[in-house]
Amino acid sequence: SSLELDQRIAEAKRILGTSLVILGHHYQRDDVIQYADFRGDSLQLARLAAQVTDARYIVFCGVHFMAETADLLTSSEQIVILPDLRAGCSMADMATSDQVDTAWDLLTSQFGHSIMPITYVNSSAAVKAFVGRHDGLTVTSSNAQRILQYALQQSERVLFLPDQHLGRNTAVRLGIDLRDIAVYDPSAHEVQYPHGQGNSRVLLWKGHCSVHEKFQPHHVTMVRQTYPDIRVIVHPECSYETVQLADDSGSTDYIIKQIEASAPGTSFAIGTEHHLVHRLADTYFDRTIVSLNENACPCMTMNRIDRPHLLYVLEQLVKGSPTHIIRVSDDIATWSRIAIERMLQQS
Ligand code: 13P
Ligand code: SF4
Repeated sequence: SSLELDQRIAEAKRILGTSLVILGHHYQRDDVIQYADFRGDSLQLARLAAQVTDARYIVFCGVHFMAETADLLTSSEQIVILPDLRAGCSMADMATSDQVDTAWDLLTSQFGHSIMPITYVNSSAAVKAFVGRHDGLTVTSSNAQRILQYALQQSERVLFLPDQHLGRNTAVRLGIDLRDIAVYDPSAHEVQYPHGQGNSRVLLWKGHCSVHEKFQPHHVTMVRQTYPDIRVIVHPECSYETVQLADDSGSTDYIIKQIEASAPGTSFAIGTEHHLVHRLADTYFDRTIVSLNENACPCMTMNRIDRPHLLYVLEQLVKGSPTHIIRVSDDIATWSRIAIERMLQQS
């Protein structure tokens, strides 16, 4: 039963004491995030992982790439656990390291070697290692502007992996003309110029998030008709057209902070994953908080982490037989860690 699950999770946590830290991403279900010792956006969780040096076990309630990042930033004695190993990220899967190698050959033959690759943390450790080896670094949605600006100062061109939307939205915020943004399509293995051909300062990888893609411009128009004073805030993984129509965009932590800082009575339409939006609506019940598209699906992989999976990995720890361990192999750990550490130094 639900009560029994809660009791057993609480008991396992009690037995494990300070040897265990549970980290939870804002998109986790309510019944899971309640057990997180710390919650945060991707950047905060990466920083937290690096700080919890006393905990032997880090149970990561989030998705695979986040647990890999935690593994890279913790010591070799610490063990990072992902309660359901099937909790991946469809966007991260849109750029394999083989595809990136193939793309790099084409891009460097077309544009020369003055390209700095940078990758959204929503990517595999192998892709991060590629970026690290080529003098690049990682970015998250909360530091994308700063990191892209830095990369553009260092290099004539930047390849932004794997989310075309975060890449385009960030470049436009930095004042880059849409015509100067080209797109590399890994399935066609070609460079495309959807906004016209300019100087291709920014090369976007044609990946996207299937959750955030569902928040479309007409949803912004519709919600404004229903609630004339509503403030529309979206995650920058939404398309350029949606972000342009919204009032504001930012990481999950940014969205939470905007709501926290608002006056009671304020109305918000939020374009991001449902679990976070519904939790905000429940927490700030004196504001009106609606999803920008109530019919959009939750993130199916974040959702895979549920109480039975959490309980299983915790009870295995109590028995002294850790399972669902995420360990980045040595050959890619060195360079992927460098890519992440460069980001942490810059943000
Ligand atoms: P944040 O860094 O904003 O938490 O985003 C993570 C993510 O996966 C968004 O889809
Ligand atoms: Fe990946 Fe999108 Fe889910 Fe974030 S919301 S973890 S980008 S699939």
